[in-house]
Amino acid sequence: MKDHLGREIDYLRISVTDRCNLRCIYCMPAEGVEWKSHNEMLRIEEIARVARIAAEEGIKKVRLTGGEPLVKKGIVSLITDIKAAGIKDVSLTTNGILLPRMAQELKDAGLDRVNISLDTLDAQKYREITRLGNIEDVFAAIDAALEYGFHPVKVNAVAVRSENQDFLEFAKMSIERPLHVRFIEYMPVGESSGGSGSGWDIHDTIPSDELRQIINEAAAAEGLPALEPVAKDDAPGGGGPAKYWKFPGAQGTVGFISAVSNHFCAQCNRLRLTADGKIRPCLFSDEEIDVKAALQGSDDDVRAALYAALHVKPDAHHHKEGTDRRMSQIGG
Ligand code: GTP
Ligand code: 5AD
Ligand code: SF4
Repeated sequence: MKDHLGREIDYLRISVTDRCNLRCIYCMPAEGVEWKSHNEMLRIEEIARVARIAAEEGIKKVRLTGGEPLVKKGIVSLITDIKAAGIKDVSLTTNGILLPRMAQELKDAGLDRVNISLDTLDAQKYREITRLGNIEDVFAAIDAALEYGFHPVKVNAVAVRSENQDFLEFAKMSIERPLHVRFIEYMPVGESSGGSGSGWDIHDTIPSDELRQIINEAAAAEGLPALEPVAKDDAPGGGGPAKYWKFPGAQGTVGFISAVSNHFCAQCNRLRLTADGKIRPCLFSDEEIDVKAALQGSDDDVRAALYAALHVKPDAHHHKEGTDRRMSQIGG
């Protein structure tokens, strides 16, 4: 599928739920989250139908996100259905809490790979950032992801300046094991969109170039060599916007997602489907196409909704305004 500007769109990110078992400070308020009601949300069969039709139209990769996708009932059968629709690359972005106990059934259903969110290696700081999480569960999730052969395994850290994360320690996780650690620039989305009462501040966003320098300086202080760029063919792949580097001889890589400092909109290859049945052409634009209504009709109606979204996909994002929706409602 091509959009109206000629960009090839082959990646669909599906937020299967807006619910989550954590409450990360940059994503959700501590209390009083207004969840969408069950009848506002797409049912698993409806999500599978959209994915099948998207596959027929040329979508090749599907990523399941949330909220936390593993809290969604029926997630395993959804993966089975999406694989059956012919999608070769089905991936999951998860906080990892439920991964160890679900890894076997996810593998059996055909899930190809996982990206695990972890913002710090410090147990107490992890609890502060997620408000509810236990870091040991995430370490177990990373072990399980490697053990069950999901490949490649990526670990996502949102870099927030005022959190003083230990970036070098993080990057070093990529040396001994085939882990792809990625640093994401903190973005103004939803709760963190920069509107009144929200937490985002541009000073908290660490541009990727600066962050790479911070890591290299800390590495030099420990007598470690600097990160070197990874050629496109040697990168872990996946179709996302990360740029990869690595420590010489390391098993894994260190990626940077420069969503704020370096817009990658010209190469954008994706559409998003929200848990309440809207196709969102851009993370940073609140323009949405209603596919829930189209699902009452024929496959052609659903197809038309997909093409309508392609037609209004913006050329570039304008995230000065931020978004009304939270990250947990869009799926990252
Ligand atoms: P793969 O490359 O397929 O592994 O996936 P990915 O990096 O696209 O997925 P992931 O869910 O791990 O996303 C990592 C971060 O990149 C999240 O914080 C996303 O919000 C951000 N991101 C993903 N897609 C986009 C996009 O289209 N625009 C912007 N600005 N950020 C994105
Ligand atoms: N900026 C950048 N990344 C964010 N995520 C959630 N909110 C933000 C934000 N404001 C990340 C999560 C997860 C991914 C899907 O999005 O930590 O890794
Ligand atoms: Fe949940 Fe992810 Fe939001 Fe954290 S960032 S509250 S894990 S959806």
